[in-house]
Amino acid sequence: MDNLIDIKELTVEYTNIQNGIKTITRAVDNVSFSIREGEIYALAGESGCGKSTLSKAITKLVKPLSGEILFEGENIFTQSKEEQKNYPKNVQMIFQNPYSSLNPKMKIGEILKEPLDINTKYSNNRKQTIIKNILGDVGLTEKVLDLYPHEFSGGQRQRIAIARALILNPKFLIADEPVSALDASIQAQIINLLKDLKAQKNLTILFISHDLSVIRYLADRTGIMYFGKLVEENYTSAIFCRPKEDYTKLLLNSAPRLHL
Ligand SMILES: Nc1ncnc2c1ncn2[C@@H]1O[C@H](COP(=O)(O)OP(=O)(O)OP(=O)(O)O)[C@@H](O)[C@H]1O
Ligand SMILES: [Mg+2]
Repeated sequence: MDNLIDIKELTVEYTNIQNGIKTITRAVDNVSFSIREGEIYALAGESGCGKSTLSKAITKLVKPLSGEILFEGENIFTQSKEEQKNYPKNVQMIFQNPYSSLNPKMKIGEILKEPLDINTKYSNNRKQTIIKNILGDVGLTEKVLDLYPHEFSGGQRQRIAIARALILNPKFLIADEPVSALDASIQAQIINLLKDLKAQKNLTILFISHDLSVIRYLADRTGIMYFGKLVEENYTSAIFCRPKEDYTKLLLNSAPRLHL
């Protein structure tokens, strides 16, 4: 299996100046790992260990201090103009809070059409067909198109966010705590939806969660982060059955249970 993403010795720091005092936080510290085409790779670790920062570096929302990120073998920071243009189409993200990530002033139809308007020159008919198809893929109907985000439950909003993320047919999806704001029963539905979509669309997914029971159910391989470092990675079953690092054992012992 080929690697879709290679992360090499990646370090990301935040610099803040408050009352004239400069503080530097090393959120990601010399992290290296690869994500293979077609797999679900999970990143776990407690709050503040750098999971979101790592995913923001992959989506170019933050600039690393050092290291490299390769997408299909190409360094994402030194891509050609054409590759730079295509990168956001290939790499999409969904977030924890599906309400704040959807513009409350836009109808669902507009939310789903926007990425097509920005990134394609498709005819209106073709755009409508794509929107109809993606709604079907995430278990919604065309009835939602004229409604606003606040008219939906959290689970439905996350389905809409997933539809928007997948509308340009990306190769890679980053799901940053996509179910932690949802009720347990709804969590299971969204997790299963991601699993189905991954198989159906041959997606590669980076799944970020501090909930190990969800990761155990979903991920092919899992990396454990601690204070910005990747302390252990392995096939998910091996992480659960034969954890090597003390920190991984600690995390496993403190994991809440979700019944999927
Ligand atoms: N914009 C920022 N400015 C300064 N420090 C930041 C910024 N964003 C994150 N950090 C710090 O970087 C570290 C890593 O944060 P990050 O959000 O990546 O962690 P996380 O693993 O995603 O946590 P959580 O599970 O709570 O989402 C933390 O110490 C955090 O306080
Ligand atoms: Mg986070």
